[in-house]
Amino acid sequence: MPDSAAVELTGPGLLLRPWRDADAAAVLEVLRDPAITQWNPQGDVNDLEAARRWVRRRADWSGGSHIALAVVDPAAPETLSGSVSLHRIQDGDASIGYWTSPTARGRGLASAAVARLTTWAFAELGLYRIELCHAVPNSASCRVAERAGYLAEGTLRQSYRYGDGRRYDEHLHARLATD
Ligand SMILES: CC(C)(COP(=O)(O)OP(=O)(O)OC[C@H]1O[C@@H](n2cnc3c(N)ncnc32)[C@H](O)[C@@H]1OP(=O)(O)O)[C@@H](O)C(=O)NCCC(=O)NCCS
Repeated sequence: MPDSAAVELTGPGLLLRPWRDADAAAVLEVLRDPAITQWNPQGDVNDLEAARRWVRRRADWSGGSHIALAVVDPAAPETLSGSVSLHRIQDGDASIGYWTSPTARGRGLASAAVARLTTWAFAELGLYRIELCHAVPNSASCRVAERAGYLAEGTLRQSYRYGDGRRYDEHLHARLATD
């Protein structure tokens, strides 16, 4: 697993960079967004200290099971626009997760970030299959999956408890290194 400090991924209008302590205040603010608390709940990040722990966990890839990068505008790399990460990395498999800040939405950023991290992970980590799950009512996330090349594979029944405490059916999408 590479050191997170050594990884920066770029694309048109896109920079994925390592998480930094200085992101904690923005993380605290963005994680209050109702769409994130509902569809991508991050646990109790209620103060700056908890936000700093959140950032440091994401910057530490030494466990080998996760990779996480901040999504920022290359012209303003201090300003946080989103998050993209791989979890449960094992034996060539992984799951991908993401969110964007409310002000950054609707510009194709999540789709571009997911596609960029995916192609890098196939090439540099040797992954073979990456899964993406979203609650069925989360149509924006379904579009992100489609635009990032994750094919729909089916519907999981009542498979995950989201922010409101209810279980939702989820769409399972996945992308293979050979797609
Ligand atoms: C889902 C999310 C990451 C999308 O971020 P984004 O940067 O706006 O995504 P993109 O701009 O790349 O693409 C959004 C797509 O969803 C569509 N979309 C946006 N809001 C939508 C809505 N409420 N209903 C249906 N589609 C919607 C956009 O039109 C676009 O599709 P298009 O290319 O066909 O026009 C963002 O809304 C978010 O952070 N939501 C909360 C957390 C979350 O759901 N994370 C994913 C958990 S699986």
